[in-house]
Amino acid sequence: MKLLLLGAGGFIGVNLTERLIKDGKHNVVAVDIDDEKIDYLVETKSPKLEYHNLNISSDEAEIDGLVAAADVVVDLVAFANPALYVEDPVGVFDLNFTQNMKVVKQCLKHKKRLVQFSTCEVYGITPAKAAEQFGLSSDTHITPFSEDESPLIMGPVKNHRWIYACAKQLLERILDAHWKRDGFQFSVIRPFNFIGPRIDFLPSEAGGGSPRVFSHFMDALLYGKKPIKLVDGGEVYRAYTYIDDAVDCIVRIIEDNNSNCEGQIFNIGQPENELKIKELAVRMCELFDEHFRAEGDPPRPEIITVSGEEFYGKGYEDCDRRIADITKAKTLLGWQPEYDIDQVIFKTMEHFVNSHREKQKKESGEVF
Ligand SMILES: NC(=O)c1ccc[n+]([C@@H]2O[C@H](COP(=O)([O-])OP(=O)(O)OC[C@H]3O[C@@H](n4cnc5c(N)ncnc54)[C@H](O)[C@@H]3O)[C@@H](O)[C@H]2O)c1
Repeated sequence: MKLLLLGAGGFIGVNLTERLIKDGKHNVVAVDIDDEKIDYLVETKSPKLEYHNLNISSDEAEIDGLVAAADVVVDLVAFANPALYVEDPVGVFDLNFTQNMKVVKQCLKHKKRLVQFSTCEVYGITPAKAAEQFGLSSDTHITPFSEDESPLIMGPVKNHRWIYACAKQLLERILDAHWKRDGFQFSVIRPFNFIGPRIDFLPSEAGGGSPRVFSHFMDALLYGKKPIKLVDGGEVYRAYTYIDDAVDCIVRIIEDNNSNCEGQIFNIGQPENELKIKELAVRMCELFDEHFRAEGDPPRPEIITVSGEEFYGKGYEDCDRRIADITKAKTLLGWQPEYDIDQVIFKTMEHFVNSHREKQKKESGEVF
């Protein structure tokens, strides 16, 4: 098949592209506005990979041509960074809904199947937290989020964090509406906290910026310039999925060998890998000391608490807990995640540490 991957230069995109090239079964046409992460794959000059530096917002004619020539379109393009949701909610809605909608229309026009990346954030907060906020019983049972049954519960409009989830949810609803009305072929993927190599930059190396939480903690461990900051005490839960497990499931959805993915929404996650963010911070410190600490590294960073408003700005609110019900992916795709939480953290840290050591060697003149 000829696969068009939009946003192929991002964290999930490069890991997916690498796997597809390695498999060698499909031709990958990769599109992104940013070459930095995907450069290492472009440099391999694989005959299975064609890369285009294009912007889905402004290069409509070129994207339209690529959609027309593809067998399956995989859309990963989004602003997927919580700091941006409160900093630039209009920009987040524009890219994550309006610009992505252009891709949906191109797929409809050319009758192409679309695999659309959504998010686990569409589930919002748990019914238990919502009940608590309304002063109802706080012992409501926490159930995993199920694709076709769970309610999607967002906070108030003034809490702009929810614009990301709303834009993604609206896109999902439009896809399903076109499926119902036009027989549009689509599958939606809701990722639950994937981590692994190339997830994000380190602020100390990029001259600032606000990546996702793992990179913030790694930055504190490797550079020691700032403490590890736990937003609102790090009391929220996350269940991390290793990127290789996630990519394995994504490939099954793209290939759809059993022809049972049409019109389906898939959670991809590892419900057994749940921990609180404050536990993640401690575990990362322990694993760093145990396996990675080298001479000259800064001392173990202090772990402090900051408010969500102080860290992200006004309008921040968080999902309290998100556990994926992955029955559908297991049943329809025969997929099973393999990596436990310690392996996920260790392998992701290993990539960061190795890249950092390489950089240190280059800077000290040991490697040219
Ligand atoms: N990583 C996760 O755990 C996670 C969780 C939930 C949802 N998702 C969703 O999965 C998808 C991929 O996530 P990711 O973690 O790889 O994010 P990412 O930010 O690393 O990748 C997104 C890519 O889109 C590109 N892009 C942005 N604007 C573009 C434009 N106008 N034209 C072309 N390319 C553009 C970016 O340069 C980037 O490479 C996103 O839709 C995201 O919302 C990811």
